[in-house]
Amino acid sequence: MTEIKASTGAPFARILSVGSAAPSRVVPNEYLLQFIDSSDEWITQRTGIKERRWIGEGENIETLSLAASEQAIERAGIDRTQIGAVILSTISHYHQTPALAPQLATRLGIPDAAAYDISAACAGFCYGLAQAESIVRSGQATYVLLIAGETISEMTDLNDRGTAFLFGDGAGAVIVGPSETNGIGPVVWGSDGGQAGAIWQTADWHSAVENGTWPKLGMDGRAVFKWATSFIAQATKNCLDGAGLTPEQLDVFIPHQANDRITDTLLRYLKLPENVVVARTIRQYGNNSAATIPMAMDALLSSGEAKSGQTALVIGFGAGLVYAGQVITLP
Ligand SMILES: CC(C)(COP(=O)(O)OP(=O)(O)OC[C@H]1O[C@@H](n2cnc3c(N)ncnc32)[C@H](O)[C@@H]1OP(=O)(O)O)[C@@H](O)C(=O)NCCC(=O)NCCS
Repeated sequence: MTEIKASTGAPFARILSVGSAAPSRVVPNEYLLQFIDSSDEWITQRTGIKERRWIGEGENIETLSLAASEQAIERAGIDRTQIGAVILSTISHYHQTPALAPQLATRLGIPDAAAYDISAACAGFCYGLAQAESIVRSGQATYVLLIAGETISEMTDLNDRGTAFLFGDGAGAVIVGPSETNGIGPVVWGSDGGQAGAIWQTADWHSAVENGTWPKLGMDGRAVFKWATSFIAQATKNCLDGAGLTPEQLDVFIPHQANDRITDTLLRYLKLPENVVVARTIRQYGNNSAATIPMAMDALLSSGEAKSGQTALVIGFGAGLVYAGQVITLP
């Protein structure tokens, strides 16, 4: 057999930088009360959400993704032409093809990078991080720009009492690059297509055209809540075990921001020490789907609550159903 040369990369990978962008329009709970029978008190108590950001004039998934990416590239201090792959995780880019990532790469001045979109909903950032880590370690690219951008407000049914208040728009981006020490633990990931009906799109493209209905998000909130507080709790523990760490060795916990009560349950399950910093960006951003984790990471680092070099556990979960999580070193 003819021997084919294999690619070889860095011994380890880590996140070098993070950037994020939130739209300027602030939407408080009160705004939604004209559409649904609810109250600020109920939404706050049941989810933690006080307000969220929705795109306004001149803002879209592209502007948010570019802004987050520029920040991440600048903060990494690298020559952008060394970025060999650009991955965009999104479920709210409304073109089946072409993917948005190649256009973002071109707009960012990253020539000839491999560029593609992935669809893993609220687990999308951690799915992308697993790919980026493998790409760097296998030598397929020196640096990877991983972007998560979402404009779920455009898929939100304002009259649906179960979802109207949950989602927000935004983007986050990280540069993943080579490292002498390991900064990204083994991914714990999986899926359960048997629960595809737990979070769904109300129309596929065929029925959208036939019925003239714009697809919205639907959700069986109780089913998702139950799954997140049982199965995902165990998966979160598996992320720590996979990285060979105990809860005491963790500095920061950044779970997907789906509901503050889900976060509380995960904290109880993991028995994390009191001093662990916990992301609670759901309060001002809502659930930003794939963009949630990098946006929360940037918020914690920018506010000084979390510090570069600390050890954090990230885990995302959502429509599919899918989930993915890792232990990381913060950039
Ligand atoms: C959506 C969610 C906040 C709903 O909270 P919940 O506690 O499960 O609410 P329920 O559907 O069980 O309803 C409880 C009560 O509140 C009422 N209620 C439901 N929606 C309401 C609203 N928007 N405002 C006020 N009351 C509401 C219900 O009518 C019910 O009243 P009843 O007890 O008199 O019958 C919660 O299920 C959730 O967060 N699920 C997970 C969501 C998630 O993670 N999604 C994203 C995955 S990526």
